[in-house]
Amino acid sequence: MAKRTIVTMPGDGIGKVVLPEAIRVLDAVGFDAEYVHADIGWDFWINEGNALPERTVKLLEEHKLSLFGAITSKPKDQAAAELPPELRDKGLVYASPIVKLRQHFDLDISIRPCRSFPGNPLNFIRRRGDGFEEPKVDAVIFRQNTEGLYGGVEWTNPPDVVRSALETHPRMAQFKHVPSEEMAISTRIFSRGACRRIVREAFAYAEKFGYKSVTVCEKPNVIRETSGMMRAEAKEAAKDHAGIALWETNIDAQMMWLTKNPEDYGVLVSGNMFGDIVSDGFAGLIGGLGFACSANIGREVAVFEPTHGSAPKYENFSPSIVNPIAMILTACMMLDHIGETDKSERMRAAVAAVIAEGKVRCYDMMRMIGKQDVLDHGAASTPQMTDAVIAKLG
Ligand code: NAI
Ligand code: MG
Repeated sequence: MAKRTIVTMPGDGIGKVVLPEAIRVLDAVGFDAEYVHADIGWDFWINEGNALPERTVKLLEEHKLSLFGAITSKPKDQAAAELPPELRDKGLVYASPIVKLRQHFDLDISIRPCRSFPGNPLNFIRRRGDGFEEPKVDAVIFRQNTEGLYGGVEWTNPPDVVRSALETHPRMAQFKHVPSEEMAISTRIFSRGACRRIVREAFAYAEKFGYKSVTVCEKPNVIRETSGMMRAEAKEAAKDHAGIALWETNIDAQMMWLTKNPEDYGVLVSGNMFGDIVSDGFAGLIGGLGFACSANIGREVAVFEPTHGSAPKYENFSPSIVNPIAMILTACMMLDHIGETDKSERMRAAVAAVIAEGKVRCYDMMRMIGKQDVLDHGAASTPQMTDAVIAKLG
């Protein structure tokens, strides 16, 4: 197979730590690739007033496949205050570069698998009788990745034209006495095409990998239009997959059920915000941020990232202590995407073997507070965990 070019975007904080670790595993498994670095994140906001420089967008346009670490994001006013004097007063407004990337390249399909590894001391356990049981969690969340509450169509002090347009809706009457200056509006816009694509991808995945159900997790009883559209599209998609049950849950009830019967769920599908919530909920059952991986997939470009952020407080630890497994599993998703499944399976088996053996564990797996001295108390450093995974590659 021809050598692949992968755009690497380490970003900020521990993104810079874990991404090179995943590449060490990719090298060790024999994945033949050239890695091209691309700039993204806080440094470029501070230095250039743009956290997603155009040259990075160009590299993605050219190579189409990327591994991303994490970025640091801060609220709008704090971001503006950190700009150097020469970049202030230019009307620059900070926006998360990963959200921008998802929208720019229409990476509308987010996939977030949450599978427990036997032997992980962070796995969810449940009381039963006088003892405990550990349900096997194998849930894959499909999150619509570009629209909804992340669409960015929002205002504080909405312009009159927006306000009057909204006032054509009878339910705006309840806000009649609120002055515009005291009003904030964030819209939740869904389009039918995007709903259709995410639910169809979810069903196709369930079919391919033998999951028995697809759960559409929204809130159509209250958010009738947008959640209703997602639900209607899910019902349509279900018609083409007779062997797969379509379940419907509300996001709030789902958050309760996921600690009662998480083993019952297979594929789940949600809009952007609820997908973010339910995927973090399931991630908590399988070890949390050190284990949660994700993919952002568009028609042409795909970007793979761990769910965690930049955890800036750990950035300068030497050696680093954070768990590289989320990033390693993220690299596995990239391999799956390009059909290199023999290599991704070997990598996952190596991760599973290290976890099952239980000798090498990062601080999070030992429930320690993340301080440099965790290494003196038996926790593995980031590179030690990577070495252990590499040593188990079959
Ligand atoms: P975070 O995910 O960076 O860290 C939260 C906590 O989780 C850490 O303090 C650490 O205790 C733990 N953690 C995270 N990754 C870990 C790993 N690999 N191994 C072991 N423990 C790990 O979330 P936080 O603190 O809310 O945000 C920090 C920055 O990251 C913010 O600026 C935020 O905007 C950004 N962020 C970026 C994301 C992205 O790049 N996609 C996603 C989430 C947050
Ligand atoms: Mg999140």
